[in-house]
Amino acid sequence: MVIFRSPPQSMLYEGWRAGCQSISGVATASSDLRQIRSTSCLVQSSSPNDGVARDAIAGSLDIRRNPTIEANRNEESMKPVSWKRPTESFGILFRSAVIQHGAEVVEVLALARLSCPSETQGMSKRILITGASRGFGKLAVERLIAHGHEVAAALRGGEERGRSLFNAELRSTGRLHFIDLHVDRAESLASAAEWIERHWNGHLDVLINNAGYGLMGPLEGQTDAQVRRQMEVNFFGPLTLTRACLPHLRRAQGRVINISSIAGLVGFPFYGAYNASKFALEAISEAFYYELRDVGVQVALVEPGSFRTEFSEAAEFGEAGDERNVAKIAAFRKRMDTRRSVLSGDPAQVADLLVSLCERRRMPLRNIIGRDANSMMLVKRLLPDSWRVALVGRIFDRIFFRS
Ligand SMILES: NC(=O)c1ccc[n+]([C@@H]2O[C@H](COP(=O)([O-])OP(=O)(O)OC[C@H]3O[C@@H](n4cnc5c(N)ncnc54)[C@H](OP(=O)(O)O)[C@@H]3O)[C@@H](O)[C@H]2O)c1
Repeated sequence: MVIFRSPPQSMLYEGWRAGCQSISGVATASSDLRQIRSTSCLVQSSSPNDGVARDAIAGSLDIRRNPTIEANRNEESMKPVSWKRPTESFGILFRSAVIQHGAEVVEVLALARLSCPSETQGMSKRILITGASRGFGKLAVERLIAHGHEVAAALRGGEERGRSLFNAELRSTGRLHFIDLHVDRAESLASAAEWIERHWNGHLDVLINNAGYGLMGPLEGQTDAQVRRQMEVNFFGPLTLTRACLPHLRRAQGRVINISSIAGLVGFPFYGAYNASKFALEAISEAFYYELRDVGVQVALVEPGSFRTEFSEAAEFGEAGDERNVAKIAAFRKRMDTRRSVLSGDPAQVADLLVSLCERRRMPLRNIIGRDANSMMLVKRLLPDSWRVALVGRIFDRIFFRS
């Protein structure tokens, strides 16, 4: 007598996370269907790490304690007689088939054909996002949890601060975790990657490098230490974290999303240090885009214009450097505040874009968002450089630097 059992969801899920392409489970039972006599599990995987895949499945089924269960890669040994129509659930295709073994024994094979992670839409993903305490980061965390994803929210202050910032409803989902992360500290970045290894079996679907701040004002008045720190937070932090997470991302055929800025594509006065950090982030993102294509890891940049977060309040300024800069800095700061309250966009738009980039099948490399950013990009594309710099100079003189 035969019983038809599809592999349990937990096993499929773990198998999928470990990079398996298909898992088959077969169970035979006693004639009264009360006792399972034997089960077997076939794993087909293109994962370079078959051992990890098998361990993950074994762990979820607890099959290692059952000597009758074997895991092998040879599907040929079982020839289905007829297939049933496939059904899909949670992005996983289930197929079942009738198997003939001699005249009397008929087994029914339940086969779950697992979609390749990058092909899967709507499937819960494991996402690490930096700068989760406020602004784009916090909004994105809230939306990602609402979409059923599991999120490691990285923020300075970790668990304790996270609990005070995110409501109990979100925390009670069990899909929101907090990591204490200072993006300008190497040991902190390394321990975030270790957290993924320890808590998520080294499986990361999406890394969002979002944390950042702006060092504003004339370059002349800024110290080397200030400029280095700007590069440390906005450039070296994302670079180091991405490299540390690469083994995890490769395993998942995951993706990296770097939050750059329109200031990563166009230069502005008083934005020199910030421009430099975001231009550098653009450069490595583009290099990673090419370098990681072959291993199935996608890379995208998000380039927002001005949005209503606490970015302006958190901005740092150096000294004036030259007396003529004093009035300009005062006017510029005043202008930044008005822009923030009047002209800037709703940060929820950026958070929604991040969610959609996590979920869509393919991510475009560049994602410019915001009316001001799109207009500036249009100017850069259409006008010769000499016209563009003359125009930007005039806008800053007339609007940003005028008292
Ligand atoms: N808002 C805009 O108009 C705009 C436009 C273009 C690009 N961006 C970019 O968008 C990203 C997010 O900014 P936002 O607008 O959401 O600004 P925000 O409200 O000021 O948030 C910045 C986030 O970065 C975190 N952060 C800063 N330095 C950090 C460090 N050393 N270690 C760990 N976390 C750090 C902050 O954490 P704490 O709470 O611990 O300080 C905060 O969570 C930034 O990369 C920014 O450059 C913003």
